[in-house]
Amino acid sequence: MDIKLMVKQVIQESLDRMIHHDLSIVIEKPKNPDFGDYAIPCFSWAKTFKRSPKEIAEQLALSIHHPLFLKVDAVGPYINIFLDKKQISQELLNQIVLKAASFGSNNDGENQNVPIDLSAPNIAKPFSMGHLRSTVIGHSIANLTAKNGYRPIRINHLGDWGTQFGKLIVAYLKWGDEEKVIQQPIVELLRLYIKFHDEANKHSELNDEGRLYFKKLEEGDPQTLKLWSWFREESLKEFFRIYQLLDISFDYLHGESFYNDKMDEVIELLTAEGLIEESNGALVVQLDENDLPPCLIQKSDGATIYATRDLATAIYRKRNFDFARSLYVVGSEQTLHFQQVKLVLQKAGFDWAKDIIHIPFGMMLQNGKKMSTRAGRVILLEEVLNEAIELAYQIIDQKNPTLENKHEIAKQVGIGAVIFQDLKNFRTNDVDFSFEHMLNFDGETGPYLQYTHARCHSLLRKSGDFVPQIGYSLDEDEAWSTIFLLSQFGEVVKQSWTDYDPSKIARYALDLARSFNSYYAKVRILDSENKNARLHLVFSVATIIKECLRILGIKAPQSM
Ligand code: ARG
Repeated sequence: MDIKLMVKQVIQESLDRMIHHDLSIVIEKPKNPDFGDYAIPCFSWAKTFKRSPKEIAEQLALSIHHPLFLKVDAVGPYINIFLDKKQISQELLNQIVLKAASFGSNNDGENQNVPIDLSAPNIAKPFSMGHLRSTVIGHSIANLTAKNGYRPIRINHLGDWGTQFGKLIVAYLKWGDEEKVIQQPIVELLRLYIKFHDEANKHSELNDEGRLYFKKLEEGDPQTLKLWSWFREESLKEFFRIYQLLDISFDYLHGESFYNDKMDEVIELLTAEGLIEESNGALVVQLDENDLPPCLIQKSDGATIYATRDLATAIYRKRNFDFARSLYVVGSEQTLHFQQVKLVLQKAGFDWAKDIIHIPFGMMLQNGKKMSTRAGRVILLEEVLNEAIELAYQIIDQKNPTLENKHEIAKQVGIGAVIFQDLKNFRTNDVDFSFEHMLNFDGETGPYLQYTHARCHSLLRKSGDFVPQIGYSLDEDEAWSTIFLLSQFGEVVKQSWTDYDPSKIARYALDLARSFNSYYAKVRILDSENKNARLHLVFSVATIIKECLRILGIKAPQSM
């Protein structure tokens, strides 16, 4: 129940009864409470009604009835609505008590499948900031997907195939050391990869060798495959340490290699549709009618590329999951790639190509510069996360030295800080990475929300005997903005999913926490006559903040 939406619907129905016209409704909030909780101006309807706004207001006011309205007045050209706050608060608190974490969920998705392509780091390379963004944004969108009644399918489309693996194998055979790979796989494999490029600049025949080895891979040569799968395994061990820190899991680890045996079909299919053209020995699909550069399908040496694998991937996902939509959470630098893939599928006659949705995001910046993993200066993401945990530990240890379980809570707070900093702004904005900001307990941060949530629980604990029950209402003015916000949660859940925008949840949670904290500063909760009703508000706020944090992929400790 979104209170404002409910008011709008009631007015809409009354208008519809009076006149059949598409009229827009403006809802204002009067500054003076004598004019009610909402005021609806009638000026813009005068033409349609062929009457004065004042007359319309009088007539309409008589026809508006609703059990949650105390009274409806016509004052000049305005209709003033007085809400029954007691009833409304009771209904809302009841619903939160009854539904708990499922409050705000809906069944719009009717259990339809929505594959979500997220994370997708590249084997043998460091897990980058971009992949962190894809991981946390994708994870949160998956949670929103489920909250809106769809079935999310989380797929990690690992970058585990392509010419670079041919090159890496050549480099390993020439200069590699098994022990070093086992000890520090990513660092060592990256070193080999960089060495390969340095050497290839001097001896270009190395590139041919690299291509040859990728060809061997594509053809299934057992020895080459063995090396490749060893690199893959060692890399995955590292990646999964990060996923474990973030507490994120996947339904499928179908990387690019998974589609190796599904590529011929793509080429046959495109050929049968007459879409394939030869260009200097390579195969392409022309997209000039749509002002896009051609999509390369096969290189002149017969190797397939990233785009071909994404075509196979899209077809595979449609066949296996019969999706309602298929989402790809991938950086904005790949926008052209996804436009091309989508268009090629469209041209090939797949009407579901329209359901392929690229969800782009911006970069992670530090001091205004891209946080890069290249250029020799390797920032290992795991170190970044561990540093956030360490800093969180220092803060917690200072604020609350006797807290039990400090290490586990520091982990939840440190990781939560990193995730929230990423998700709090619209995803296409660049993110400014700053330990100092993200760990500020009073700022627009994850720890601020976690702290507010823990504060609520501390109140509930102190009350001694709190048990959530239905039947409580709270019509005090100080509580109203918090109640109003609680009523909007379900709409925010819908809107964030429609826009694939977790920042709507993040912003909403901040508003709710701020509104509650200012309520808490104004009224006494425990030693008041209203104690029980107020505690139900505390419980409701804790429930919804926790649910927002869960959607964002952040834990909510009960004390900190
Ligand atoms: N591994 C790729 C990269 O790091 C991202 C893959 C995204 N998913 C996809 N289906 N193309 O750039």
